[in-house]
Amino acid sequence: MTEPTLETISNLAKRRGFVFQSSEIYGGLRSAYDYGPLGVELLRNVKDQWWKAMVQSRSDVVGLDSAILQARQVWQASGHEEVFTDPMIECRNCNARLRLDKLDDPNRCPTCGVSGQFTEPQEFNLMFRTHMGPVESDDNMVYLRPETAQGIFINYENVRRTNRLKLPFGIAQVGKSFRNEITPGQFVFRTREFEQMEMEFFCRPEDADEWFAYWLDERMAWYVDLGMSEEKLRLRHHESDELSHYSSGTADVEFMFPWGWDELEGIANRSDFDLKQHSEHSGEDLTYFDQEANERFFPYVIEPAAGATRTTFAFLIDAYSEETVNDDTRTVLKLDPRLSPYKAAVLPLSKKAELIEPTEKLAAELRKRWMVEVDITQSIGRRYRRQDEIGTPYCVTVDFDSLEDGAATVRSRDTMEQDRVSLDQIPSYLAERL
Ligand code: GAP
Repeated sequence: MTEPTLETISNLAKRRGFVFQSSEIYGGLRSAYDYGPLGVELLRNVKDQWWKAMVQSRSDVVGLDSAILQARQVWQASGHEEVFTDPMIECRNCNARLRLDKLDDPNRCPTCGVSGQFTEPQEFNLMFRTHMGPVESDDNMVYLRPETAQGIFINYENVRRTNRLKLPFGIAQVGKSFRNEITPGQFVFRTREFEQMEMEFFCRPEDADEWFAYWLDERMAWYVDLGMSEEKLRLRHHESDELSHYSSGTADVEFMFPWGWDELEGIANRSDFDLKQHSEHSGEDLTYFDQEANERFFPYVIEPAAGATRTTFAFLIDAYSEETVNDDTRTVLKLDPRLSPYKAAVLPLSKKAELIEPTEKLAAELRKRWMVEVDITQSIGRRYRRQDEIGTPYCVTVDFDSLEDGAATVRSRDTMEQDRVSLDQIPSYLAERL
C-alpha cells in the first residue's frame, strides 16, 4: 500500500470530524485546531494510555495538574525568558518570516523562490505573553507556559513532602502548552497551542545514565505496544550543538511522517539544572536529603516529554490503510482498539421501529463500558465502510432474524469476518476482544 499523504490525512480528519480549523467560520485561525467528536476521543485515549503506562501502573510515579499561568520568575529561573528563542529572518521580497534553522537553503526563500533577500537573523522568543488583572504593565505580565515541565519543578518539594517520596521517583503531567512558533505547519504537527505529556523522573546523579537508557527503552516500547509500526519509529541522539539549554543529553523518538523522519518525543537528561535554578532564584532549598547515606544533594532529572496532539496525529497516520476488497477500495483506520474513538457501532438493518428498540437497548448496555455509536442511515455496506474509516473495531448488526433468535451479527473491522452472537453475550464477546 502507498503511504498516505499529509493531504489524505488532513482531509479524512476534517471530513470525519476528528479535527477542525480553529475559528473556521471567521476564515480560520492559523496554527490552532479544534478536536471534533472523534478527535477528542482519540486524543483522550492517547492521553489515557500514556497516564496508564506512566502513572497508574507504576509505584514510583505520581501525577500533577499545575496551572498554565505561573509567576514570571519561573521562566526567568528556567532560562526560557532569555534563551527560549528561534532564529527568525524575513524575506525582503515577499515579507515571509521564517526560521533560519529549518531552511534547506539558507539563502533562498521557500515562499517566493528569490535568493539573497533575507534580513539578519533575530532571536525571537517563543513564549506568549498576557497580563494578570485589569492593568497591562510590565509588573503583571505573565507567560502562557511553553512546557508543562516547569509546573513540576516548582511543585517538586510540595509533592515530595506531602507524598513522602523517596528517590527515585517521577512526577507526571498532561496538559496544554503554548509556543508562538515562527513557522507552524504540517497540519497539527507544529501548532501554537498544543498538548504535552511529560514526566520528570528524579534520581541520584550517579544513576542518571542508567535511568536515561531505561526511559528510552520504555518509551519506544509504549508506541510499539499501542500498535505503531516499528519500522516507522527510530531513536536519534542529539549532537551536542542541538541540545536545549538545560540538557546534558537528549534522544528523540522519531516517526516517519509523510514528509520524512521528525520528532514525536524528546527524552532528556536535564541533570540538576532546573532544581538548582529554582533553588537559587526562589531561595527555597530544593536539595534532597538521603537519610541512609546521610547526604544532601540536588537530584538529577530524566525527562520523557511527548506531544499528545502530535502523537495522536502520528497514530492516525500510521493506522491509515487502503485495501482492495472485491474490486472496491476500503479505507481502514487500523487503530489499536484501546485508541479507537468508538469501540463498537450498533447498526439496525432497517429503520423500522421493531429493530430500533433492540438496537437502542443493546447500545445502552454497551455504553455502560465503552463509547458506542448507533448509525441508522444509508445501506449497511456504506455504514460498515464509514466505521472502518473511523477505526471502529466492531460493528453489531441487528436484523429481522434478531427478533426471532435473540442474536446479532458482529463484524470485525480487520478481518471482516462475522459471528452470530446472542444479544446478551455481546458485552462479554466484545470484552474478550477489546
Ligand atoms: N519539557 C521539554 C520539552 O518541552 P520539547 O522537545 O520542546 O521538550 C516535547 O517538547 C514534545 O512536545 C515534542 O517532542 C513534541 O511532540 C511536542 N511539541 C513541542 N512543540 C510543539 C508544537 N509547537 N506543536 C505540537 N507539539 C509540540
